[in-house]
Parts: sequence; C-alpha cells; structure tokens
Amino acid sequence: MCGIVGAVSRSGAVLEGLIDGLRKLEYRGYDSCGVAMFEGEAVQIRRKVGRLSELEKLLADGALAGARAGIGHTRWATHGKPSDENAHPHTDGSGRMALVHNGIIENYLELREELSAGGAVFRSETDTEVLTHLVGRELARGRGLAEAVRLSLKRVQGYYAIAVMALENGQPRLVCARQGPPLVVAATNEIGLCGSDVLALLKYTRDVVFVEDGDIVELAPGRLSITDFDGRPVTRAVRHVDWDEEAASKGGYPHHMLKEIHEQPDVLARTAFDRILQVEGDVDFEGPGFDDARLCALERIQVVACGTALHAGMIGKYLIENLAGVAVDCDYASEFRYREPVLAPRSAVLAISQSGETADTLAAMRLARERGLAPLSICNVQGSTVVRESEAVILTHAGPEIGVASTKAFVAQVIACYLFAVRLGRARGKLSVEQGRELLDELRRLRARLEGLITEKTVDQVRAVAAKHLKAKGFFFLGRGVNFPVALEGALKLKEISYVHAEGYAAGEMKHGPIALIEPGMPIVVINSPGRVADKVRSNIEQVKARGGHVISVGADEASHKLADDAIRVPACSEWLSPLLNVVPLQLFAYHHALARGCDIDKPRNLAKSVTVE
Ligand code: F6R
Repeated sequence: MCGIVGAVSRSGAVLEGLIDGLRKLEYRGYDSCGVAMFEGEAVQIRRKVGRLSELEKLLADGALAGARAGIGHTRWATHGKPSDENAHPHTDGSGRMALVHNGIIENYLELREELSAGGAVFRSETDTEVLTHLVGRELARGRGLAEAVRLSLKRVQGYYAIAVMALENGQPRLVCARQGPPLVVAATNEIGLCGSDVLALLKYTRDVVFVEDGDIVELAPGRLSITDFDGRPVTRAVRHVDWDEEAASKGGYPHHMLKEIHEQPDVLARTAFDRILQVEGDVDFEGPGFDDARLCALERIQVVACGTALHAGMIGKYLIENLAGVAVDCDYASEFRYREPVLAPRSAVLAISQSGETADTLAAMRLARERGLAPLSICNVQGSTVVRESEAVILTHAGPEIGVASTKAFVAQVIACYLFAVRLGRARGKLSVEQGRELLDELRRLRARLEGLITEKTVDQVRAVAAKHLKAKGFFFLGRGVNFPVALEGALKLKEISYVHAEGYAAGEMKHGPIALIEPGMPIVVINSPGRVADKVRSNIEQVKARGGHVISVGADEASHKLADDAIRVPACSEWLSPLLNVVPLQLFAYHHALARGCDIDKPRNLAKSVTVE
C-alpha cells in the first residue's frame, strides 16, 4: 500500500530524511514514488515510476537538497497504471501546493466532472488529483491550509490518509488527515513530521501521536495542532515507541524474510515467556479483558483475519476447541463483512492482524462489534487501529516485520492463540493446574527446538530439495488436523514469493477431486507429525505415491519419512505445538525456491505489506 511522509523543519534540510522515511516504508509495496519540496515561492515536484533509486537519480543534481519542507510518497497503483504522471505528489497546477494520498476516493468521478466543468485541468488518471483541485480551490478563495483541507474533505467519500503542503506568504505549511489508513505524526523543537508508519519517523524521534480517523493535524516544529473534521480541537496522547531502527534493518542477512525466519525462537520467548504463570499453570495477559468471569461467559469465538493471519486463526480454532472446549468459527474477513453473519449471543470476535490496519479485518471486526460481540484482537503493532478498537488485546512481540511474506508474525500469532487457549481452558475449568503447567512447559521447551531446527543443516537440506523442483509447474501442500492450516500457509508462502502455483489442501479431501491433477513427478509436500491423524496422513501419502507423485514429507512422523521421496525432519513436540516447527521448513522452502528463481523476495510483485484498501 502507499506510503506517506512529510516534514517541515525550522532550519535544516529535509530531503535526505524524507527519502530515508520512504525507504523505511518500502516494505509496504510500491510501484512509483516522488517528493514535493517547498522553498521560496514555488513547489518543486520530482516523481518517477519504479524504485526509489530511480527517484534518487532525478534528485542527484542537488537542486532540492536544501529545502526545509517537503512531502514524499510511495505509490501502489489503484486508479491508473503505474507511471510518472500517476505517481504522487500531485498538484493543482498553481505551483503553491502539493498533496500525497493513501487510500481511495470513492466519489472521484463525479468530483472530477464538477471540477473540470469549473476549469480544473487534470493531468493524471488518479482519484487523488480531485483532492488537489478541491484544496487548491479553497486556497484560491483565501482560506488557510487546514481550513481548505477541512472543507475539501467534507466533499469526499472514501478511505484516505493524506499529507498536504502549501506555501502561505512564502512559508511552507503542512497538514495531514486520516479517515482509514494509518498515519503517525510527531513534533520536536526542530521539526514537524508525519508518516504512514512510525518507522518513517524514528530517525528523528520515538515520541509519536497515532492519528485517529476524523483527525486533521497541522504540523510545525514544536507544535501539533489536532482538530476534528468540524474544526473542534481534540487531544491525542503522545506515545513512546521502543522499536529502534536497527530492529527494522536486515541485521546481516541478505533478506528481511530470512532474518525474520531466524528470529522466530526469540519471538517465541518475547511473546510467551513473561506471560507464563508456572506455578498456577496459567497465563497472565497484561491489560483487562481476560479475567475468568468474562472468559467463562463466552459462548463462541468468531475469528476474522486475512491471509497468513487467518491461517494462524485456523490453527487457533483447533487449539481453542480442544484445550478450552469453546466453539470457534473462522472467516476470511473480506467474506464475513459482506454476508449476513448469524452470530451467537455472548460471543467475542477475535481479529488477528500483524499490522492492525488491514481494511477487511477492521471492517469485519467493526461489524461484529456492532452486532454485540466483544472485540478482542491479536496484533503486532501497538497503537494500531485494531488495537485501539479492541476491548482486550494480546500483543504479539514479533518486532517490526518488514519482509512482505509474513513469517515471524505468523509464529507469534499461533503462540498467542495457544496462550489464549490455555487461559480459556484454565478459566473455564477444562484444564487442570497440572495440564496447564504441562502445556506451558512444552511451549518453553519449544524455543530450544526451534533453535535446533533453524540451523545451517536444515537450511542446506531444504535448499537442496527446493533445487530439485525449480521447474515444477505446480505443488500440492497437504496436511490434516492442526497441520491443515500449515499446508495452506506453506502453499501461500511459495505462491507469493516464488510465483509458482501451489495449492494447500486438507489431505483427506484429495480423493474428492484434486487427486486427478497428480501426474508422475509432481511435487507433493505432506506435513505430518505424531498425533491423532498421523496414520490417516500416511494413508494419504500412499494414495499420492500410487499416482506417481513425488512426496516431500515434512514433520516428525518417521513412518511418513520412510514412505516419502524426500524427508525434512523436524524435532518432535506435542501435537498442538507441531505447527510452529512444521511451518519453518516451508518458509525456508519458499525462500530458497524464490531465491533460485531470482525473485524479489522481500518485495514480491503486486503485493503490499499492509493492505489498507478493500
Ligand atoms: C502473507 C501475508 C498476508 C497477510 C494479510 C493480513 O505472507 O503477509 O497474507 O497475512 O495481508 O495482514 P495483517 O496480518 O497485517 O492483517
């Protein structure tokens, strides 16, 4: 999704900082980028289709290097193809203002007609450009920038975060606003800043304000002035963010994704260990909402999430139903929000999201809340919209996830589900103290097992197996029970970064149709670990082999490995924790497959890290 940055400084140059901020937002996915710099009487815009390095070539003449104010943008195309003309910032042609936008203006066609009839000249195919003309028209009527933005936004329907800059008496003014996508602002004595993510601001400060929907912010060095869309002042807390820039960098690995895979043992420790009450065999979540009375009153849980986060939720369903005896429904958030869900009273909605800003997940959560469900969430980003709108939150302490393909956040989400299942089970008396202790001991022991798994030996083995199948037309990933969602996740990882067709399937469903696709030599990844369905999965392996499929078995079931053509062994652990180990070779498999095919691993084509539009 698009990324926004903006800065207005008392005395220093800001271009370098803006480019640095845009680089921090690269993980969101983009196809073009640009900056508008404000100095003296005229606005200078530079924008380019392609990567930031292309934009930097344009800036290499140094003409804008001294400007004290500017806005920048990475664009992920929605309206209009990726091109120099459609790249942001956009302007109304007055040479006094420029604007960047993340989101969608739904009524842009009718506004475009109206503005064109009034003489506005449009130079791009974007929906954004109507905003520049609306704001420009108000500025031309003599309004101040904040007022011009306020009046313009009243005309707009949609979903947006914007940053607008204009020259007033030769002085740059910066205003931003939010109705949907995330926006963070900050002011030090020296500089006023805005960005789509705190990462873009960390170079300057860690004390930030998360802008709420319906806020308009005027930014200046030493001053943040926030009002609502009707101009009434509002107060927002300043929050201290403890992520540092180093945490968001690659730390010596060639790709963020590989670094993030290797971080998973630590992510387990950070997400779980401080919450474990060893003596009580229970879990202590910080913050309210997880007390016995509340959890005992719950009748059902509705999980809403997208992509990888939904796969974590599907594992959560097995865990919660088995360990706590509470019924769980799982829905793609994008489906849930448009059906008429019949929801049981005394239920909770559990939104799972790495970013906490996914549009579909948010909408599904809001819908369930309107229907009377208590909103709970599992989320990785403190201060994100999902977190702010939840009654109770389990923060996953995965740290910033930069690689577009989610790895460590998935592991953290599954751990959070496991902890939640234990807490629920203990609260409702389904688990005894001893059972709780044993489950939590197993989780503690998993850190060393993960460390033992993520070694050069495994990496080499997975790389060798991946190399055998570089020309394969398609893959199946099969699993059952708690490892069925792991099969879905393994297939998703391969599709998104290697661009190879891969299908995740419930192994027992193969014979009801998909088995027809199996040809001699087709790679079939089968995930199997000791547990209640291990022998059933072995039968499924036999069925695949009988049709000539090349079986790659992943897991701790030795008998499956004996049947397979290739075996990737993982350490043994309890059935309920096996997804956390089994997913690792699948992440590495996707990584090495993509690497050998020369794909852009951290920024796969067409994908965005944070999907803030529908
Ligand atoms: C896949 C991936 C996506 C996200 C999905 C939800 O690797 O990252 O499928 O899981 O877009 O994103 P969040 O978790 O931010 O709501």
